[in-house]
Amino acid sequence: MLADEIIVSKTDVKGRITYGNSTFLKYAGFSERDLIGTQHNIIRHPDMPRGVFKLFWETLNKGEEIFAYVKNISMDGSYYWVLANVTPSVDENGRVLGYYSVRRKPNPKAVSVVSTLYKSMLAAEQSAGSKNAIEASLKILEDHLQNQNMTYEQMVLTLQAL
Ligand SMILES: Cc1cc2nc3c(=O)[nH]c(=O)nc-3n(C[C@H](O)[C@H](O)[C@H](O)COP(=O)(O)O)c2cc1C
Repeated sequence: MLADEIIVSKTDVKGRITYGNSTFLKYAGFSERDLIGTQHNIIRHPDMPRGVFKLFWETLNKGEEIFAYVKNISMDGSYYWVLANVTPSVDENGRVLGYYSVRRKPNPKAVSVVSTLYKSMLAAEQSAGSKNAIEASLKILEDHLQNQNMTYEQMVLTLQAL
């Protein structure tokens, strides 16, 4: 991503895309017609650990926002890293209507740290087998945070400020 770009998308409560700005379409490489109504995992890169998305949805389901470094895949098979901030959209009664994500260029130093971390998480998932994959993956993340003496959110924001 370029420093002044922002990628925006919105989904319904089930994670189906309801809106994408022109930068989103440019990076995804799909037309608006292809994307609207499609599950957001259409741009999921196979290098992304399942553990990250577990944390992602757990946080959103609590009604909280989440920041995450995400490697996404484009239609032509290339990839791009983003720092996403995903937030639930709520009505006046606090009922969740959907979600939206605003993504900016991640600090390259952060991408270097996070891609190593995600590789370890992915390897743990693969060796643990499908049933225990997420637990094994999140253990790697927890150990990393404990070593750094940080919460997840502190880690993400500290890396961006490197
Ligand atoms: C607003 C919003 C934005 C999302 N953005 C992305 C994204 O950029 N890349 C991605 O891989 N998943 C994104 N997701 C998560 C996907 O819905 C999905 O959970 C994830 O790709 C994992 O795929 P899976 O659920 O099939 O394992 C987003 C979800 C929401 C609600």
